[in-house]
Amino acid sequence: MPEPHPSPANSPDPAAGSTPDVGNLAIGVLGGTGAEGRGLAHRFALSGNPVIIGSRSAERAAAAAAGLGGGSGIRGMTNQEAARAADVVIVAVPWEGHRELLASLAAELAGKVVIDCVNPIGFDSRGAYPLRVAEGSAAEQAADVLPDSRVVGAFHHVSSVLLLDPQLSEVSQDVLVLGDDREATGLVQALAGRIPGMRGVYAGRLRNCGQVEALTANLVAINRRYKAHSGLRVTDI
Ligand SMILES: NC(=O)c1ccc[n+]([C@@H]2O[C@H](COP(=O)([O-])OP(=O)(O)OC[C@H]3O[C@@H](n4cnc5c(N)ncnc54)[C@H](OP(=O)(O)O)[C@@H]3O)[C@@H](O)[C@H]2O)c1
Repeated sequence: MPEPHPSPANSPDPAAGSTPDVGNLAIGVLGGTGAEGRGLAHRFALSGNPVIIGSRSAERAAAAAAGLGGGSGIRGMTNQEAARAADVVIVAVPWEGHRELLASLAAELAGKVVIDCVNPIGFDSRGAYPLRVAEGSAAEQAADVLPDSRVVGAFHHVSSVLLLDPQLSEVSQDVLVLGDDREATGLVQALAGRIPGMRGVYAGRLRNCGQVEALTANLVAINRRYKAHSGLRVTDI
């Protein structure tokens, strides 16, 4: 009888070596007042990480933190304060504000792992489509304006609706993790693995992030056709 295939959810990455301990890392979220930022903040706080929601407005950040039950380890601050206070920083702002915000925070983000989940996507009457990005991808633009940070692309395909759904105890999907710094991608894989149901899968260097971001347009089309919040699973690993 064949061996049953193990569930991929939360299984360690055999290619990553030992899983780093990321349970105490403080996670800052730039643009954390938006749906995606609040969703990731919520899930990481549930997993026990201290979380800092960043915003252009300290008041909006505080309100978003309170809305997620701020007492449970979620605080709100300006983006600048969040970037300074956090160990690891997630960028969850719209593409339009991406370069300008990151360039203004280069000093605060120096030396830190910066996780970029930004999808440069446009919408017209035919649906979603990927925008052309001079640097190749949003993540490469981040690396361009943050030369002293360790930029990793991840969480591009994780729907905020699922992250914020109180009925869902698990968010069952793989997160493609891309970057040029192996220690940093390993750390982000470990962070993804802290969310029940989720697995971080190394998916190549940052120069391959453009198609991962662009694939979001396909997922939007799938979501519209099938009335879903689709995500990815990578097979045979
Ligand atoms: N929504 C999803 O399901 C999903 C899934 C995967 C990836 N993403 C990516 O995650 C990012 C955020 O998505 P979202 O839906 O949460 O977006 P959003 O709600 O439109 O924006 C997030 C936050 O960014 C801040 N912001 C808006 N414009 C800005 C600007 N020009 N400069 C700096 N900050 C600005 C706002 O916070 P303040 O006004 O408080 O500063 C806003 O609450 C996007 O790049 C998206 O591609 C989204």
